[in-house]
Amino acid sequence: MNKVGIVGVGNMGESVLRALLQKGVRKNDLCFVEAKKDRALHIGKTYGVKDVKKVSELAKRSDLVVVAVKPQDARKVLPDVASSMDGSKVLVSIMAGVTMANIIALAGRSVKVIRMMPNIAVKVGQGVIGVAAGADVSQNEVSEVKELFSSAGLTVDVGEELMDAVTSLGASSPAFFLLFLEAMIDAGVKIGIPRDKAKAISLQVIKGTIAMLEEENVHPALMREMITSPGGTTISGLAALEDKAFRGSVIEAIEKAALRAKELSL
Ligand SMILES: NC(=O)c1ccc[n+]([C@@H]2O[C@H](COP(=O)([O-])OP(=O)(O)OC[C@H]3O[C@@H](n4cnc5c(N)ncnc54)[C@H](OP(=O)(O)O)[C@@H]3O)[C@@H](O)[C@H]2O)c1
Repeated sequence: MNKVGIVGVGNMGESVLRALLQKGVRKNDLCFVEAKKDRALHIGKTYGVKDVKKVSELAKRSDLVVVAVKPQDARKVLPDVASSMDGSKVLVSIMAGVTMANIIALAGRSVKVIRMMPNIAVKVGQGVIGVAAGADVSQNEVSEVKELFSSAGLTVDVGEELMDAVTSLGASSPAFFLLFLEAMIDAGVKIGIPRDKAKAISLQVIKGTIAMLEEENVHPALMREMITSPGGTTISGLAALEDKAFRGSVIEAIEKAALRAKELSL
């Protein structure tokens, strides 16, 4: 799969393009189509990649077609993508909530589909991407596509039935976590720490915690126990969080977001 075309180079399409270039895909092997003229000019100039103007032309040139338009534009784009797809080509859809069955129905013919659900952090190469492949996509093709996307972040294989769950846990969760982070910073301010310092401390707490979890390969509960001494400060704070059903609230938030993803899915 040497030649890759991207349909729609908005926020996500641009991140995909950047990741592919970082992975060593040659500029000449990449092309895109973008509806907004200014945006197309900007992307072409910034990355030196060809704007082929027509979706059908892009599909003709590419072994792998990445569809990165909004779900409501799928109806317009997919028949043109499918027009040049044969058994050797693969369509990657990053459209939230558009099922494989609907992609094939909208395309009007059978195409090999891999659904990917990235989160916002693919912009900085630290994303997480849920991957679900259609039954007719070979293991080799899945591995090749995952390798191509690897500089965008961690890829995780899931069955399509878990895509709504990944949309919540992977793509919505950054917002939940940011709310927690904001609350930490406000708490620092409330107990007298200047805001800039409260922000620096809070960010470093998170970074350091993740680094230690990864480096020492400890379970989160075990690491929490390490800093929770009898009658100490940490247990007082933890008890206050448990009193407000902190864990239950987080679980409910993630479950609600997954249910909403299912409701919105096409
Ligand atoms: N943003 C996220 O965090 C995120 C996370 C996971 C998945 N996704 C999925 O990624 C997809 C893209 O999201 P995004 O945030 O990158 O959206 P976006 O910034 O709106 O990018 C989509 C781009 O595609 C263009 N486009 C629309 N129809 C087209 C066509 N027929 N041919 C060529 N270009 C066309 C749009 O132009 P116009 O605006 O002029 O139509 C727009 O510039 C969505 O399906 C979304 O569900 C996004």
